[in-house]
Amino acid sequence: MKQPGSFIPFSLPSIGIEEEEAVLRVLRSGWLTTGKEALAFEKEFALFTGSPHALAVNSATSGLQLAMEACGITKDTAILTSPYTFIATSSAALHLNASVQYCDIEKDTYNIDPEKIEDALKRDRALLKPRIKAVVPIHIAGNVCRMQDIMTLAKKYEVYIIEDAAHSFPSKTDNGYAGTIGDIGVFSFYATKTITTAEGGMVCTANDELAKRMTTMRMHGIDRSVWDRYTADKASWEYDVIEAGYKYNLPDILAAIGREQLKKADFFLEKRIHIIKQYNQAFAECPWIIPPPDGKGNAWHLYLLNLDLQKISINRNNFSQFLQEDGIGVSMHFIPHFLMSFWKKQGLDEKDFPNAKTRYESTISLPLWPDMTQIMIDKVIETVIKTGRMYAKY
Ligand SMILES: Cc1ncc(COP(=O)(O)O)c(C=O)c1O
Repeated sequence: MKQPGSFIPFSLPSIGIEEEEAVLRVLRSGWLTTGKEALAFEKEFALFTGSPHALAVNSATSGLQLAMEACGITKDTAILTSPYTFIATSSAALHLNASVQYCDIEKDTYNIDPEKIEDALKRDRALLKPRIKAVVPIHIAGNVCRMQDIMTLAKKYEVYIIEDAAHSFPSKTDNGYAGTIGDIGVFSFYATKTITTAEGGMVCTANDELAKRMTTMRMHGIDRSVWDRYTADKASWEYDVIEAGYKYNLPDILAAIGREQLKKADFFLEKRIHIIKQYNQAFAECPWIIPPPDGKGNAWHLYLLNLDLQKISINRNNFSQFLQEDGIGVSMHFIPHFLMSFWKKQGLDEKDFPNAKTRYESTISLPLWPDMTQIMIDKVIETVIKTGRMYAKY
């Protein structure tokens, strides 16, 4: 049973006095919505990642939709992604009346398989009317996809690459930060993410045209920002609407939190790495645990505990339940799309995604957040090992 006070939550944000003071500063300033804090957050995020443009948005879901819209994802087009993701990756395209095609993940990384991307693109390009206009790789848990291979395919098949970088801040690779490698990258600052604004996101691109389109569409298709309308010399009521846009801006209260979180991003990552090193070391002694993928620049948003179901006589759900009952908060990333009613109705069949299915059936997300104490880390390790040993076949 959960003991009050002794339960280790799956995730807790690290919010300090700096974030509290930043929110108060904005509340007392008289300007609550998108203004100079959001602009400063964008500049600071652009500087951090080296991205020429960074646009603050109210969620990564909105950011994905803006990105797809700017890339011309519309009726009669499709995106290609993996079913091993959060629904937002797909729903963004569906809301633009586009279709979504899927290919399986790699056997070992949870990330979309570039070879399968190429198979899908080949099939698509053989059609009279090819549909796939963008590929959306997701850097699952912060472990970066094989971006070099994916960018080579992008050139060969002339598709946009929209990185779903919701998990991968700050994943630094030899080619730059994940989320700045493709045409557009979309970060999430949802409450459980590596840095948070409660709800929020950032869209990065080096493409001036795409940035211009997304800036306009983010605010009702209006050609001037609200901040500009109220602070520039030109009368505030003068603006034009050039398209039916959305309302996806990030308010200053949230941007102010984001600015403080951004300053701590590298420190948070160090703390996450400190925790995962201990998990990895302790679990190396358990033959029934397959270590999580750890490519260059992993941001370690999640620790994916992968059970080797050949070597243990308990399934993932029961294992999770025992952890919860022993006071460990766990989660599951992700229930693949093909197991959801909506996608089943669309004909998505699990037989086409053996790797996603296998990983789904064996994976548990363990607590991983910067302020975990040593006692908490030890308790997670101890409980996982104790539970596994009871059911280990070897
Ligand atoms: C892979 C992935 N993409 C997109 C999103 C959407 O992020 P947001 O909640 O900021 O809209 C999430 C959120 O959890 C996610 O995990």
